[in-house]
Amino acid sequence: MLGIIGGSGLARLAGLGNPRRSIARTPWGDPSCALTFGELDGREIVFLARHGYGHTIAPHEINYRANVWALRDAGVEGVVSVATVGGIGSEYGPGAIVVADQIVDYTHGRRGTYFDGPNQPVTHIDFTEPYDRALRARLLAAAARAGETAIDGGVYGCTQGPRLETAAEIRRLARDGCDLVGMTGMPEAALARELDLPYAALCVVANHAAGTGDSAERISLEAIAEVLDQAMVRVRRILSEVVRG
Ligand code: HPA
Repeated sequence: MLGIIGGSGLARLAGLGNPRRSIARTPWGDPSCALTFGELDGREIVFLARHGYGHTIAPHEINYRANVWALRDAGVEGVVSVATVGGIGSEYGPGAIVVADQIVDYTHGRRGTYFDGPNQPVTHIDFTEPYDRALRARLLAAAARAGETAIDGGVYGCTQGPRLETAAEIRRLARDGCDLVGMTGMPEAALARELDLPYAALCVVANHAAGTGDSAERISLEAIAEVLDQAMVRVRRILSEVVRG
């Protein structure tokens, strides 16, 4: 069974068969919402809305530890994150779907490890490749079968939010090698690795990042909503193929 974490623009999975909500509790507190179990094209999945079903939890307020733990407890074999991002660089324009392959973490103050608290041995995980190779390949193959273009690779810069970035911050991210900018990729990916859960992300570009392209002067939030509405239909098609294979 696959776990799917939906971000902005994907607080619900349309057409889920036999949906059941189940409240999860974890040693790390409460997840963003109840888990939704159900069938996506006949295959059992479990879905969690990262910002809550009513989109009320800001990126810095998300209990990432509880979310990832709850999915692990539900018995998932892996986690597919659907994440909305800004695109840096012209090949990552609005509407692009990207299977990211690297991360730069700019967040601060988030609870980012399970190896926390007194009497815990110091533990370092390998994070050279933050996303699971096999699950990334599965996402790319699923996109190809669905007839949807997905870009193979991109560096995800994770900012603290909830505000969007300044133009100078985006120039700095570009110099750092980032192709995408979002607010929720970390510590989610690292926590999944700590639990040995395969994790990969389908990143949906909602807008040109601040100061670039048609966001040169400001980012239009209305335009973002429209791009996301259309892109999530394509994401849904890819997800149907992911669970099949
Ligand atoms: N920056 C950070 N997060 C985002 C953006 C952005 O431009 N667009 C969607 N999520």
